[in-house]
Amino acid sequence: MAIRQMVLEGNELLRKKSREVTAFDEKLGILLDDMAETMAKQQGVGLAGVQVGILRRVVVIDIGEGRIELINPVIVKTSGKQMDSEGCLSFPGQYGMVERPNQVTVRAQNRHGEFFEITGVGLLARAFCHEIDHLDGIVFKDRASEMLEPEPQKPRKKLAVRLKRKE
Ligand code: NI
Repeated sequence: MAIRQMVLEGNELLRKKSREVTAFDEKLGILLDDMAETMAKQQGVGLAGVQVGILRRVVVIDIGEGRIELINPVIVKTSGKQMDSEGCLSFPGQYGMVERPNQVTVRAQNRHGEFFEITGVGLLARAFCHEIDHLDGIVFKDRASEMLEPEPQKPRKKLAVRLKRKE
């Protein structure tokens, strides 16, 4: 497994539509493993292929209940509403309020090409919507009703110590 380089805000790749996966081969498995490792390192709960520069319809999600891999995912059913803050590994430190369905059912393929359905509620439903949006070039800021203040930066302790000594 390997950490892949992240595609960040400003990169036009984030606006592109990803293509369907047609080859369920070893290369796909490596991509999925790398995506999971890259996501875990950044403490993210979801990652789409485009975010590591691969314009294929692949998503990895882990909200703390185990890894979910979605290949060619399609939302087939939604219900309810939820409003909460949302961020994205491609937009470090930025958060916005985004309304999403509270329950979402996705039909997708696994890494072997087998079809399955999965239903998520709450955060998992939100992750499904956020990541599948990425596959169509949509980012959370497009859907945010309001952006939140950036998180306060950590105090620059080293600099403060150095200034004190000078006095
Ligand atoms: Ni994202």
